[in-house]
Amino acid sequence: MLLAWLVFGLISLSMTEGHREVQEVFAESSSQVVLPCVCNTSSHVVTWRKDNQDTVWRQDKSGMQFWGYRWLQRGARRVRCPHSRLERGDCSLHINNIREGDGGLFVCGFTSGGQSMTRSVMLRVIKVSFSSAAPVAGMKFSIRCSVTPEPLGASVQWRLNNSTFVSASGENLETAQWTVEERARVTLTGEWTCVVVHRGFEGRASASLTVKGIILPPTDDTRVYAAVGCAATLPCVFSPGSFPSKPSWRKLHPGSSSKPPGHLPPSFSSSSPASKPAWDQSARLEDVSLEDEGRYRCAGVVGGQSLSRRMQLVVAKIDRSISWRKMVTLTCQLTDTSEVTHYEWVHVTYDPSGTRLVKSIQVGKTLEMSKVNVEGVGEWVCRFHGKDGLLGNVTHRVAPQNGHLTGSTSSLYNTSIALSLSVLLVLLILILAQIYKNHQRRKSIFQFSALETILHVKSNERDKREKSHVKT
Ligand SMILES: *[C@@H]1O[C@H](CO)[C@@H](O)[C@H](O)[C@H]1NC(C)=O
Repeated sequence: MLLAWLVFGLISLSMTEGHREVQEVFAESSSQVVLPCVCNTSSHVVTWRKDNQDTVWRQDKSGMQFWGYRWLQRGARRVRCPHSRLERGDCSLHINNIREGDGGLFVCGFTSGGQSMTRSVMLRVIKVSFSSAAPVAGMKFSIRCSVTPEPLGASVQWRLNNSTFVSASGENLETAQWTVEERARVTLTGEWTCVVVHRGFEGRASASLTVKGIILPPTDDTRVYAAVGCAATLPCVFSPGSFPSKPSWRKLHPGSSSKPPGHLPPSFSSSSPASKPAWDQSARLEDVSLEDEGRYRCAGVVGGQSLSRRMQLVVAKIDRSISWRKMVTLTCQLTDTSEVTHYEWVHVTYDPSGTRLVKSIQVGKTLEMSKVNVEGVGEWVCRFHGKDGLLGNVTHRVAPQNGHLTGSTSSLYNTSIALSLSVLLVLLILILAQIYKNHQRRKSIFQFSALETILHVKSNERDKREKSHVKT
């Protein structure tokens, strides 16, 4: 951290300059550092110079202290040698609020046993800087680690949130990468640390970075699971504190993205209520139906940069089928199963106090049970799991759906009985009418036949008479 008052200085006694040994100290920019100098002097006459010219600080015989003007910050002294330490023969120089320009060779001069002596310290200031203070996802940007003065042959390593960062550009790790060039993305947000190793000694500096972008869903083509008939949220959350302009939602056509966008579902609402912050552009579907499945895209402009995120809505439902044996089969159906590793059926009941009791029944896509069981107490829920855990669930709503079904079937049953009864009645009446008609006809036929006999008899008599008449 830029303001951390921590000293990351490490001392090396390896480098020599002329006849004098040079200690090496790394310090993070803006931090505090102590440049060591063991003087063991009783005279208390000490001089600290930088780069063999400027006096940084000195104390003369009388105990008067002097500061170089560059080391006085608005009247406040950035350097000091604490008196209590001088007494103990420690002439170390304390520097506050290190700047990059402070780096260089410091020499501590004193007299000991009548001899002029010096101690040299090389101060190297490390600083992490970004090409843009507030990068937006998609922008090209770089992170730089600078060491002043630059050490020759030093190695540098980058860490992001305490884990080693390897640049996506996959550059040769053998060469020191003082600059990391990346396309900004939200996942680069965090604490960047540059670790410099020089002659076996280490120095480091850190700075925190916030990349603005869409933080939820974290990646494109994230799947969002919803159940038929339930409400669902399509997430679209920008970095906190950002105010995306021109926020928009689209439903994408399956396959090619060149086709014009599809219609958003009827129960879709993207207007954010006042309770939601401006950076939360999540949309809501009040009543998910099977046709709502597919790809959606949310977009917005942040810092002049167009940002968008694609996601896929996966709709789950339960299919119910009844076999002739009166067995009910419930099948868990999803419009996209590519992330599903397994299904689990659970039975949910509520005890009198309203506490939910969940019991796992079996693993598998289908559940076969007797009709009585399905329509009994509680709900049957299908949970679907992915490799990273639970993805979602869908509930088979027994009571309302079946009550409705039974209701409609029984009324249908009643009507059909009434209908068949009336048909029967009509038939009966028709039959009776027919019987009566037949009866009536038979009666008239009898009458006719009687008449016929009479006529017959009469004609016979006439024949006989005519015959006799012919004979005579
Ligand atoms: C189903 O999912 C909802 C929403 O995530 C959750 O509140 C509920 O507890 C889940 N039910 C079961 C039985 O897992």
